Amino acid sequence: MNSILVTGGAGFIGSNLIIYLLDTYPDCRVVNLDKLTYAGNSENLADIQGHERYNFVHGDIGNSELVNYLFESFSIDAVMHLAAESHVDNSISGPEIFIQSNVYGTFVLLDTAFRYWMDGPFKCKPGFEKCRFLHVSTDEVYGSLGETGLFSETTPYAPNSPYSASKAASDMLVRSYFHTYGMNTVITNCSNNYGPRQHNEKLIPTIIRNALKGAPIPIYGDGKNVRDWLYVTDHCRGLELALRKGKSGETYNIGGKNEWQNISIARLICRNLDIKRPRNDGSSYEEQLTYVADRPGHDLRYAIDASKIETELGWHAHESFESGMEKTVDWYLNKYVSAV
Ligand SMILES: NC(=O)c1ccc[n+]([C@@H]2O[C@H](COP(=O)([O-])OP(=O)(O)OC[C@H]3O[C@@H](n4cnc5c(N)ncnc54)[C@H](O)[C@@H]3O)[C@@H](O)[C@H]2O)c1
Repeated sequence: MNSILVTGGAGFIGSNLIIYLLDTYPDCRVVNLDKLTYAGNSENLADIQGHERYNFVHGDIGNSELVNYLFESFSIDAVMHLAAESHVDNSISGPEIFIQSNVYGTFVLLDTAFRYWMDGPFKCKPGFEKCRFLHVSTDEVYGSLGETGLFSETTPYAPNSPYSASKAASDMLVRSYFHTYGMNTVITNCSNNYGPRQHNEKLIPTIIRNALKGAPIPIYGDGKNVRDWLYVTDHCRGLELALRKGKSGETYNIGGKNEWQNISIARLICRNLDIKRPRNDGSSYEEQLTYVADRPGHDLRYAIDASKIETELGWHAHESFESGMEKTVDWYLNKYVSAV
């Protein structure tokens, strides 16, 4: 039985991942280490509370004593590392915690895994040969694209925000543990995720919440920034495949070939809400769209070339954008309607 340490499992992707893992693999144990920052929400995991193969541990990935205790107590043989400060705007107003959690926290996890799984550089302890560290990262490490082109695994890193810089630094630490110590690592860099359980502060929940409240729906700059959107469960499937079948030391980009300008996503959601929950005055939610001052250093376009994970690991997105967005809007309608 795999004993998987998932970090950041009370957040958006982590909670979807843990539910996916427990549903899909009847023989894995999941230990979720989460600090429950403002972005973590135990409610995200309410459905699996008390599950016999699930343990929640409230704590910080930067606490080496605690992390070491978890490796020993649960005989951890795989890490899926998602815990991070993840909001670009917060990294602009307060970058320090991004360095603490995303860089130092990743170091503590790597170093603990190295000591628990290995006797020294390139020497696994007997029985620990298959242990693997999967590091979950973002396409934002590659910087910004112009109107054409795609990020591939060989695109040079060019992070532009303190958030993406901290993720890039953590990717480099993981790379160094592979090259210097021979640790079994895999890195994934994924595009923007959407789906249930995302924090209120992110784009899609903000659009839906403000629409329902009758408040202005803020759109940064001219709304023409482009992101490549992937349904969260498709990301989780990619992570699990990379953990199980990825090649040690490799990086896999994950993305949905699904580019949208922010303003077009906002319009699509408004039209969806117009049908599902029309405004009392009969006009469209699009009337609430309001352009606001752009985010400093706002990257213009991200788009992923996912052909490596598709051809080497057989991954492809299952969810169409229409079906994924339908599920997403329904989920947030259910969450917000009672609150507005
Ligand atoms: N959301 C996306 O679109 C996206 C895309 C690509 C990659 N990623 C990466 O995926 C990972 C998860 O993203 P998300 O959107 O679910 O983030 P999130 O902000 O929703 O969740 C992050 C979780 O990490 C926890 N956490 C933060 N600091 C911690 C610490 N020091 N110790 C323990 N727990 C801590 C928080 O409490 C929270 O539960 C991140 O590493 C992010 O960089 C996200």
